[in-house]
Amino acid sequence: MSHGLTRRNPAKIEGWGFSMNEVANGEAASVDPRSFFDEPGKPLEIEIGSGKGTFLVQQAAGSADTNFLGIEWAGPFFRFAADRLRRHDLRNTQMMHGNGSEFITYWCAESVAMVLHLYFLDPWPKARHHKRRLVQTESMKHFHRVLQPGGLVHLVTDHDDLWDWYQDRIEESSELFDTRPFEPPESAGSEEVVGTNFERKYRREGRDFHAITLVRR
Ligand SMILES: C[S@@+](CC[C@H](N)C(=O)[O-])C[C@H]1O[C@@H](n2cnc3c(N)ncnc32)[C@H](O)[C@@H]1O
Repeated sequence: MSHGLTRRNPAKIEGWGFSMNEVANGEAASVDPRSFFDEPGKPLEIEIGSGKGTFLVQQAAGSADTNFLGIEWAGPFFRFAADRLRRHDLRNTQMMHGNGSEFITYWCAESVAMVLHLYFLDPWPKARHHKRRLVQTESMKHFHRVLQPGGLVHLVTDHDDLWDWYQDRIEESSELFDTRPFEPPESAGSEEVVGTNFERKYRREGRDFHAITLVRR
């Protein structure tokens, strides 16, 4: 296996991981992801592209009053992250296996989340693949729709061209979002921006990072 995810025991994800197909099968905009949690009244934060779940494990452990939904479409990473959340017994976390873009754009109900975390998303550098980037003019409208007023979108990337793309999408959406400087979460290490796996890997390679927070109007 080439993911660096090999483990002696198979992943156990029951209670912490499920497929988007299990919940997204009714009408458009009908899924309220707060209902995925034991205590649905807590504020919800959603991370798309959780990878190995490092951000969720670190941040959720110190934020018991918040629920965290991670969405990951790569099966091995989804299972690894869900198993990791289970082993840490983080009852305020869930992993969903599926396309986060599809979930936000099509299935997710409105005004359900306080924060969207988008860290080191795939840059899709070739021009003909730009349509695969998760942040698009259209998806900005759906980020706005699923967030509660005052809700936040955190964007962090190492990729200069993706950063320029983000700036253009933000400018186009200035009626929907204000911007403010990104502040590292409580769980980030000193000198870290957010403290995900990819940040740590890229930091060792000496890369620089870009980060910004959007505030839903
Ligand atoms: C470059 S990795 C970053 C992982 C993690 N955020 C980090 O910083 O360590 C991007 C991750 O996003 C996932 N991903 C990309 N697009 C996605 C989508 N539309 N829905 C769910 N996951 C997605 C990929 O499978 C991959 O695990």
